[in-house]
Amino acid sequence: MERYLLGIDIGTSACKVIAVDSVGRVAAKALASYPVISLRPGWAEQEPEQWWRATQKALAEVLAALPDRRAVRGIGLSGQMHGLTALDANDEVLRPAILWCDQRAAPHCDDITARAGGLDGVLGLVQNRMLPGFTAGKLLWMRQHEPELFARMRRMLNPKDYLRLRLSGEHLTDVSDASGTGLFDVKERAWSKAMLSLLDLPVSLVPEAVESTARAGVLRPELAEAWGLPAGTPIYGGGGDSVIQTTSMGAIDSGPLGVTIGTAGIVAGGTRACPEPTGQLQISCGNAPGRWHVMGVTLSAGGAFEWLRGALMRMMPSLSFEDMTALARTAPAGSHGLLFLPYLLGERCPHVAADGRAAWIGLTSMHDTSHMVRSVMEGVLLNIRSIAALCATSGLTCDEVRASGGATAEPFWLQLLADVLQREVTTVTGAAEGGAYGAVLAAGVGAGWWSTLEEAAGSLRVTSRVLPDPTLASLYDARFDTFRTLYDTLRPAFQQIAAEPASPDNTGSGDGRLPSPESSAS
Ligand code: XUL
Repeated sequence: MERYLLGIDIGTSACKVIAVDSVGRVAAKALASYPVISLRPGWAEQEPEQWWRATQKALAEVLAALPDRRAVRGIGLSGQMHGLTALDANDEVLRPAILWCDQRAAPHCDDITARAGGLDGVLGLVQNRMLPGFTAGKLLWMRQHEPELFARMRRMLNPKDYLRLRLSGEHLTDVSDASGTGLFDVKERAWSKAMLSLLDLPVSLVPEAVESTARAGVLRPELAEAWGLPAGTPIYGGGGDSVIQTTSMGAIDSGPLGVTIGTAGIVAGGTRACPEPTGQLQISCGNAPGRWHVMGVTLSAGGAFEWLRGALMRMMPSLSFEDMTALARTAPAGSHGLLFLPYLLGERCPHVAADGRAAWIGLTSMHDTSHMVRSVMEGVLLNIRSIAALCATSGLTCDEVRASGGATAEPFWLQLLADVLQREVTTVTGAAEGGAYGAVLAAGVGAGWWSTLEEAAGSLRVTSRVLPDPTLASLYDARFDTFRTLYDTLRPAFQQIAAEPASPDNTGSGDGRLPSPESSAS
């Protein structure tokens, strides 16, 4: 009888559920979306109840498509990292979750860094710079701005671990997701008691952290019965999406560099030892025990493309992503000198810049929308090239690039990635499913289908191979040289703009909802 593992990914704009069979084939998949709420510029929140509703919807679709739902052998979890889900003593959600792309806690992160004695102090405790996206700063923001709610808070969970709570009743996380809280000693693979105490936070606030492949909860009997799944269906540790989708590309302990173009863009690879932290790249525990993961995250990748589509749709309501790429194809490589800086949400890497802003540089009267669309794609990829250059200096090999994320389903994005990086780009089975597939691989190791994650990754097959166009090498080298100088040049202007008070019509997109970038690119 065929058997299946389920992978569930709580993304930023949608929950994805997949069922994978014993040879690694995706037997069924479904997606259910939810909005990001932005009440002020730089804020991003979500209702955890929506994650739960979306999971039930997508799961029902997947289970209905399986020949036999009793053949499900386990569940793996993946999810957007760093989201603060604050719970009271009865596990009731206290406020909407504050998401990874929310920038409100930047001053609190500076405060934490000062308390730790500067950047080196923070790196010594948690191996990462205290980024505004991380959970720790959000806790301090909540303590300052919502003291009554904070006083009622007993536990914090990451998004996928809130789902685990609903599925199993357990408060648990995994080491890769815990790495993104700013409260975790990544080198030791354990909560940093020193950081928690520095911030006057009780250890009881954080859930126990297990390895990604470990068993971490069992499906509640009433859910197993309602969904027709075997009693005692195990749930495995899983991982933070950015880490576990690198695993789904087979980049676990050296080898290919993983590039994900979702809402955010991620450039990442695996290492056998915890690297010496410099604060430029994020370091997390890897999903395989005894492995680490190094990554640079740009906040707006596919998200920048979706933003542009949203803006153009005001005039062209039926504009599709396909129309956008078709338009971009008509512009020449290099967009006739037009460059785009994609810092629509501020930036995390290659610049730590909560105040960063996006910009088109080099506009002339000869440019039209085709150049604008292409330059947004090129700007996203030049930014990714800057991160890849940082990764190379941290010892990751960058000869082969493996791509994943919603945008890479579009051949033009893949070709542009190969051209801008001047590297061969491959995709592998499972990469299109991102974190959900990585969660299945980790669950498969836990369930004994494979003995290690490296062995599980051996089952991945190359699905496409794109070679760079060598005739574009010097053009993109030159574009890259110019691109790299722009952020530093424009930084004073960005800071000045960010310091201006927000005007009343500058508080988001009308109804407080952000467009959902991952509908194109997660
Ligand atoms: C990783 C990060 C994002 C989120 C959302 O550090 O912030 O990739 O996990 O996908």
